[in-house]
Amino acid sequence: MKQEGASISIETPAKINLTLEVLGKRPDGYHALRSVVMPVSLTDTVTVTTTSTEISLAVTAEPWIDLSLMGPPEKNLCFRAVHLLQARYRVEAGAQIHIHKRIPVGGGMGGGSADAAAVIRGLNDLWELTLSRGEMMELGAELGSDIPALVHGGAVLMEGRGEFITGLFQGLSEETCRGFWLVVANPGIPCSTAEVFKNWKAGLTPPPHFLHNMLSFVRTGQVDAVADVLYNGLQEGVFERYPLVAQAAQQLKAAGCFGVLLSGSGSSVFGLVRDEAHGQEVCRSLDESLWHILVRTCPVV
Ligand code: C5P
Repeated sequence: MKQEGASISIETPAKINLTLEVLGKRPDGYHALRSVVMPVSLTDTVTVTTTSTEISLAVTAEPWIDLSLMGPPEKNLCFRAVHLLQARYRVEAGAQIHIHKRIPVGGGMGGGSADAAAVIRGLNDLWELTLSRGEMMELGAELGSDIPALVHGGAVLMEGRGEFITGLFQGLSEETCRGFWLVVANPGIPCSTAEVFKNWKAGLTPPPHFLHNMLSFVRTGQVDAVADVLYNGLQEGVFERYPLVAQAAQQLKAAGCFGVLLSGSGSSVFGLVRDEAHGQEVCRSLDESLWHILVRTCPVV
């Protein structure tokens, strides 16, 4: 256990889903998924400091974040992560958590899960729990379906309800595995993941080679080819239910993005661009009333 007051600050990235296949509803009410999850260079900063016993959470944010969407602290995933680790490893010490939010809340980019992933990693270090990455991912899975992927880091294939993670480009360098650029937009309304899954209706799913092709194009950063194999089985339902999300996707297309997709269960949408300069051009032509940001994918850990 590091001494009281010891602190760690983690830049924890948001994710997008380049593919999201909903394979069916499971007996436990969750849905079986297969998804290529990719972290991007939009991060929250999570600072964890050890305390004698008390647990506290403070949040600051960039101007585009609506903190009223975050709900009460005791329901916050970070809070729950601290309690889970305390109980599981019989830790008496507490933790002070500060989150600086940049990732839209309720935006399908895993912001809350990214913060919880950072708390698990941070406390593992500060409380010297010596948990392996796999153990931290298992703990994360108890709290939320996106957390194992974000504890793992880098591009992953996510399966099950989110708990089975395969790293896609393990051991590869950034030269071999080139990232690409995309513009993320968010219409300023949250989507409820539970609602979106509840309204999911089985439909056409992509042929099996889609996933194989996606992995190959992502690895070599062939962004024009990636555009042809984007898929999100939740998109149709979300666009119907939340017209502002569909409009945001339309605006990205009109601004010149060449492959636009809903991220996760929404409400963020992203559009692929050729390179940074093209991304800047797209951002200039987007209406300022639509929040948007140019980011780069982070395929390797
Ligand atoms: O696991 P998490 O708390 O992030 O999930 C939020 C909600 O989304 C769940 O309560 C469930 O309704 C839905 N969900 C699902 N299948 C998944 C993941 C989430 O139905 N694989």
